[in-house]
Order: sequence, then C-alpha cells, then structure tokens
Amino acid sequence: MQKYRLLAPGPVTVPERVLLAMARPMIHHRSPEFLPVLEEIRENLRRLFQTTQDVLILASSGTGAMEAAVSNLVSPGDQAVVVRGGKFGERWAELCTAYGAEPICIDVEWGQAVDPSAVRKALEQNPDAKALYVQASETSTGVYHPIRELAQVVREQGNRLIVVDAISGLGVHDMPMDEWGLDVVLSGSQKSFMLPPGLAFIALSERAQAAIQESQSPRYYFDLRKVLKAQAGNQTAYTPAVSLLFGLRESLAMVFEEGLENVFRRHATLSKATRAAMRALGLKLFAPDSPSYACTAVWVPDGIDGKALTKRLRDEYGITIAGGQNQMAGKIFCVAHLGYVDRFDVITAVAAIEMLLGEMGYPVKLGEGMRAASEILKDMPAKGA
Ligand SMILES: Cc1ncc(COP(=O)(O)O)c(C=O)c1O
Repeated sequence: MQKYRLLAPGPVTVPERVLLAMARPMIHHRSPEFLPVLEEIRENLRRLFQTTQDVLILASSGTGAMEAAVSNLVSPGDQAVVVRGGKFGERWAELCTAYGAEPICIDVEWGQAVDPSAVRKALEQNPDAKALYVQASETSTGVYHPIRELAQVVREQGNRLIVVDAISGLGVHDMPMDEWGLDVVLSGSQKSFMLPPGLAFIALSERAQAAIQESQSPRYYFDLRKVLKAQAGNQTAYTPAVSLLFGLRESLAMVFEEGLENVFRRHATLSKATRAAMRALGLKLFAPDSPSYACTAVWVPDGIDGKALTKRLRDEYGITIAGGQNQMAGKIFCVAHLGYVDRFDVITAVAAIEMLLGEMGYPVKLGEGMRAASEILKDMPAKGA
C-alpha cells in the first residue's frame, strides 16, 4: 500500500471539507440561493487580498488572469517593463508580445530576486512604459520578489501600474494590496486556496480600473469591464464554475478560522524548516537569499540524476514534488509547503528525500534533515502557526 501525497507547488491537496462542499447538488447561478454564496465569497476575497476593491473571479487557470492583466491594460504598440527571472516571468513577456505590446525585460538570474534599483532604472529609461509586470513568488525558481519595495519604486514613477502575479504568493506571503499600493494582484485556485484548478482571481486598484477603460486590445471573455460590472451587482458575467465556488466558500472559511496572520506564519515556518532540513543534508538551496514561502528549490547534488530523483519519489514513495523547468530541468527540485500543508507533511517530505538520496548513493545520515526540521517545527502549534 502506498498513499498519494501531493507536495508540488500546485495543484495542491484539497481538504476533505472542501471536497465535500463541492459535492453539493448543482444550483442555478441566477437563483436566489446562489446570491449569498457569491456575496460571502466576495467579502472574504477582499479580506484575503487585503483590499476594499471587488476581487474578480474568472473560470480559468491562473494564466487566464495573467492574460486579462495584459489585454485589459496595454494596447498594441505600448511598452511594459517585465521582470523575467523564471518561467512565469517569461510568460509575462510572451503575453505582452501576443497582444502586440513591447516587453522591456529585466533579466534576472534564475534563483535571484530582482533588484528594485534595476526596476527604477528601467522605468526611468522608458518613460512611456505603462506598467511593471512581476511575480510575487516565482514558482519555477522558488524566489520571492520584493513586492513592497517594487511598489514604492513604481509609485515614485508617476502614473505607472504595478501588476503582481501572486498565483503562488497570495495567502502565503503577507502582501496587503491597498496598503502597499499594488494596482493589480492576481491568483489561481490550485495554490494556497486549497482548491482544484479552474478558478483565477484578479483585483484592480482604482487606477487600474480607470486604465482598463482605455485599452485598445481585443478582448471578450476576459474583458474585465464586463466582469467588474456584473460582480458589482453580485452577479457573474457568464456561467460561473458553481461547484468550485462552493469549494471556495469553504476554503476561505478555513483560512479565516485559522486567521490570516497564522496562515502567513505557518507558511513562513514550514519554509524555514524545509530549508534547514535541506542544509542539514548538505544540499544547496537554489534561492537562499529571497526564498518564496510557497516552495523550496534545491540544487540536485553532483552525481545524482535529478529527473530520476523526482520520478522515483513519485513512483516508489508516492510523493509528487516538482522538478526544475526549462534550463533547470534535472538540476533542481522543488518541495512545496503551500496551501493545505502542516508540519508533518514537511517531515514526510524530508524523510522521503533523505531515504531516496541515500538509496541513490548520496552520503546521508538518516534523520539529520528531519532533526533540523523538527527543531523548528516542534514549537509550532498544531492549530495555526
Ligand atoms: C507564479 C505562477 N504564475 C503563473 C502560473 C500559471 O498558472 P496556471 O498554470 O494556473 O495557468 C503558475 C502556475 O504554477 C505560477 O506558479
């Protein structure tokens, strides 16, 4: 017998409570029964994003919200500054190009966070650039970019917008949207939301709401003007993913039962414990300076086949983690501690990595990683942080 354990940075394990909520019989989305469901979700999404603005709900994966953030804000021929420090930063550039805009890319070495002064320089040198596009947590490298500082830089630069892909960063890192002056924050359901894939979320500041009226880019399903208007009347523009919304109502309830502060602290502690465990095993962290609390990226040690490591963990240990993407394939692996994860999930992942590395010929002393993790996790209350 082998259990299936999902410790990749999305999709993540869905709690039983959420699964059961989604098993409810279907109701009509224009019926009176649906209205309080949507209302409660909208209220809790505002609390989660830490904004007074409505958080728009799209039936798509996270990339749908990324596409909406481009098509609604830039017109063909516009320029936009893009932080390109991983696979998802590359996606911002690809989306800009797809909509006929010119991405001005700040190339950041994978594993490093962007330097805010590089962003200041790029914005100063390109006064017509409409927006800065960046990831909060760049999942492909396990890096957290300094969003608060970047927002300050953008604010210094007049009427530019800062657009944050927080698909794996929201509900993990504390990023108060209104307080920090973020213009667009977007996310996806299969991450800290503890839901299956299929929903994307996007919140717009007043500045961004004004900007979406101006874009000349073609758009229809992801025309945020329509979505904004419908949601303002507690309706959805199109048929929503009703079952996922039942799940969302439940998962948001779980987040606020735990308490948002505790959710952030839990992710920070699980991340710290994972990093300590990897170091104790003599492994090198891929993003030591500015780690994302969603996942820990680790260099595969010399002499070990990285692709075989993730494959054997999945096939022989039942544990799915992520491998490296693009040029990092086989060179790094990435253990997630995102969403419905507690301290014993971290212990399990560390134990499995120790055992497998030993089997693959890497010199480990079984228990060293687990001990380092336990030292940090032992004081973590079972409930909350
Ligand atoms: C930071 C980030 N951006 C974008 C995406 C793409 O989201 P999706 O696969 O839901 O379209 C992901 C997915 O892993 C992500 O982690």
